[in-house]
Amino acid sequence: MSEELILAIETSCDETSAAVVRSGKEICSNIVSSQIDVHERFGGVVPEIASRKHVETITRIIEAAIAQSGYTANDLSAIAVTEGPGLVGALLVGNVAAKGLALALNIPLIATHHIAGHIYASRLEHEMRFPALALVVSGGHTELVLLPKEGVFQIIGRTRDDAVGEAYDKVARALKLPYPGGPHIDRLAHEAAAEIELPRAWLEQDSYDFSFSGLKSAVLAVINQHRMKGLELDEAALAKGFQQSVIDVLVTKALRAAKQYGVEQLILCGGVAANRGLRQALALACEKDKLQLIVPSPKLCTDNAAMIGAAAYIKFKHGQFAGLDMKADPGLSL
Ligand code: KG4
Ligand code: ZN
Repeated sequence: MSEELILAIETSCDETSAAVVRSGKEICSNIVSSQIDVHERFGGVVPEIASRKHVETITRIIEAAIAQSGYTANDLSAIAVTEGPGLVGALLVGNVAAKGLALALNIPLIATHHIAGHIYASRLEHEMRFPALALVVSGGHTELVLLPKEGVFQIIGRTRDDAVGEAYDKVARALKLPYPGGPHIDRLAHEAAAEIELPRAWLEQDSYDFSFSGLKSAVLAVINQHRMKGLELDEAALAKGFQQSVIDVLVTKALRAAKQYGVEQLILCGGVAANRGLRQALALACEKDKLQLIVPSPKLCTDNAAMIGAAAYIKFKHGQFAGLDMKADPGLSL
């Protein structure tokens, strides 16, 4: 089956990753090199540093992915790469590497959308059925994506300001927790004995859009009030209030959309899908509505190249290849 081996490359943010995926489903290798320790002291990803780190590691990561797959470069059928969205300098590193390899090996190049990757990560562990609805929640994205059939994406809702992960990271920063803050808020929320009630942004009645900046401001206001009055703040109760507000809105809108569009499956994906509270609440709501929920395992929820290989396989099957003039597109739409 050597004609169906895709080498995928992902460098859209702060993970340098390469993977070999067979037939869009089977992971032969998936190497992820995280830069978190470098960006941590700045409290967020520094684009210029991210690009430089990708340049330093990309060749080693690609070599390791091929070696670990048990195949050789000559067995590969295509090279897939994240075309966008993401940080332009970071994307460029993966794009140049992919073009070089495709040219040298004389095999096709497949331009892949990062969000399509997060969604199709599901196929690496589960059977996907259509129509499906994906709730994509990460540091850069919060989207409800309808998939009427394979390879077709319709965004029916998106954040109007902060992405969920971004809101988590900002709240964590205000509480002086390390970056990325999501897992720390998640842990605090689980330890909480009380909850500080915070508002929910439902927006217009029929809207599937989201907004988290008001919630983030409400959290900051609580922190400032306590500091000004010299009162001790129950940080766990605040984390719980924040998390509950986020979960309530995400779960309610996802379930309402799933019902309206009569989908077969609900897919939860992206880095924030690692959130225990969100997974539990969505599982419970889906069970009640007799809806199948798919959540990739945590290592496939955060940025990785195997998900890009899975999404790229659909284009591979249809012969939808990119030219060597392909450009990294930081604002690429789905
Ligand atoms: O998908 P991802 O790895 O990168 C992007 O494409 O953005 O997502 C990273 C985001 C970060 O904002 C991080 O704080 C958040 O996912 N995250 C979490 C949890 N684990 C990671 N947020 C909430 N709860 C978690 N357990
Ligand atoms: Zn991502």
